[in-house]
Amino acid sequence: MSTILEPLKDIMNNNSIAFVGLGAGLVYLIFKVIYNKLTSPFRYIQGPASPSFWTGHMNQDFLISEQDFEHYGSTYKIKGPLNENRLLTKDLDLIHHILKNDHDYEKPGSARYLLSRILENGVLVTEGEHHKLQRRVMNPAFGSTQVRQLIDIFYAKALLLRDVWATKTAESSVGANVESIEGLGKVTLDIIGMAGFGYDFNALNNEGKISELYEAFRIASQDRERRPWHILQAVLPIFRVLPSFRSAGFKKAKKTMARIGNELLNEAQTLQSGTGEKGDTTSKDLLSLLVRSNMSNDIPLSQRMSDADVLAQVPTFLVAGHETTATSTTWALYALSLHQDVQVKLRLELLDVKSDQPSMDELNALPYLNAFARETLRLYCPVPQTARVAMKDDLVSLRDPITDSRGTVHTQILIKKGQVTTVSIHAVNRDKKLWGPDAAEFRPERWEKIPDAVAAIPSVWGHILTFSAGNHACIGWRFSLIEMKVLLFTLVRAFEFNLGVPVKDVLIKKQRHRSTANSECRW
Ligand code: HEM
Ligand SMILES: *[C@@H]1O[C@H](CO)[C@@H](O)[C@H](O)[C@H]1NC(C)=O
Repeated sequence: MSTILEPLKDIMNNNSIAFVGLGAGLVYLIFKVIYNKLTSPFRYIQGPASPSFWTGHMNQDFLISEQDFEHYGSTYKIKGPLNENRLLTKDLDLIHHILKNDHDYEKPGSARYLLSRILENGVLVTEGEHHKLQRRVMNPAFGSTQVRQLIDIFYAKALLLRDVWATKTAESSVGANVESIEGLGKVTLDIIGMAGFGYDFNALNNEGKISELYEAFRIASQDRERRPWHILQAVLPIFRVLPSFRSAGFKKAKKTMARIGNELLNEAQTLQSGTGEKGDTTSKDLLSLLVRSNMSNDIPLSQRMSDADVLAQVPTFLVAGHETTATSTTWALYALSLHQDVQVKLRLELLDVKSDQPSMDELNALPYLNAFARETLRLYCPVPQTARVAMKDDLVSLRDPITDSRGTVHTQILIKKGQVTTVSIHAVNRDKKLWGPDAAEFRPERWEKIPDAVAAIPSVWGHILTFSAGNHACIGWRFSLIEMKVLLFTLVRAFEFNLGVPVKDVLIKKQRHRSTANSECRW
């Protein structure tokens, strides 16, 4: 409370117009809360009590929801900020409807506002025509031909990590204790830098020295002093007419990011329009591919991407492509440590490969590696949920009917314009009704024969919701899958993995580990 009022004091002292704006904002807020309570078609839908008026369930851990799904059914009510009613769902029909109709369901304005502070008009933020246009130019850069060419970068960095860890294990006869999330965080950062925009973060090589771009990105993402104020601005757009009171550190970090981004873009543009004949344009990083794709005759001039839009993809790739893959690969090593039989079986398959650096097709032809990657991404999805707001009133059918607080059973639900539905990716991936009674267990063998029921899960890949679905689905799923396979191939052939800490400590850390994208997307 006091942290929220802090910036308000500044306003009151400095600016009487702002004061009037603030008064209007408060009246609007009170009106909105009361109005929602009386009219919401959600008012009889069951759900847990709100832990906080200001933030609702927004800061609650998604793991808690597992018990609530058992209790309330596949769709229930949670509280957003300022007591706003939202739905949380694992109902496949509802999810399919929401994710496939991106015209009628957009990312909530609050999430877009929070993300845009760093990502500007990156593809994670834009909607409608603007988003479609960006994806049209960007999709080719993430196709399988393009990703196939990035594999050398993946191997170069994976081998570096192997060597760093090998040096540590060589120091002792019983092996070394390494912080795997740290090493994997560095390697995925190095990879997204090189493969994303031809920038070497050098995180693995430079002990202690942090590259300028990463430092700026880190400072900008962690600018939390005024967070309550920014959340208020995110949730109630009327407050955005007032300044956002950015810290000096944040402003400086944004400047650094813009400067380096511009240098990288200029480099890519010079290379692509270079004097060399065709085929001489050898840069394969995503930024260069975007510049090239933007110049292609397939894209009409009116639909090209502005420099600002392309620049916004630099922090977007960092947010979307770095911690996600680091987290999932860390979970993969955790699963291997808990299931030594799986580890032995996987290593046998990998050691059977003659080459140290098999191609993408050779990697994809390894059945157990494939099943293992799928099972990891199913059970430990790095993005556990995503939210969408209805752009119009909509009556949607449910696959699993719900019973409201008056005992009435609903097979349909009315979602009013402006109401938010949160899709629980985590709950779908672990649903016993879909995956069977052992849904919560780590068992790569399940992929030899998966239940028919999972075919109904909307998905861009492999019957799991981990990369979402529809036009906003993860653009980088092929990229991250091959990246993960290269890392696993290289590391599992070189090392045996065991847990360095008691399991219960891992679980505590797990709940604390939230990436920027994760925590902003839930608003
Ligand atoms: C295991 C790794 C990854 C997972 C689980 C993952 C998951 C996701 C999910 C669930 C979304 C949809 C978010 C939403 O709609 O709210 C998404 C979007 C996105 N991802 Fe990934 N991602 C991963 C890796 C990557 C990588 C490596 C890149 C880039 C190289 C990337 C780039 C993006 C982008 C640009 C979007 C926004 C797409 C759009 O809105 O059109 N992701 N990702
Ligand atoms: C894309 O093409 C347009 C039109 O040719 C150009 O103005 C713009 O700078 C290009 N964008 C990038 C990022 O190269």
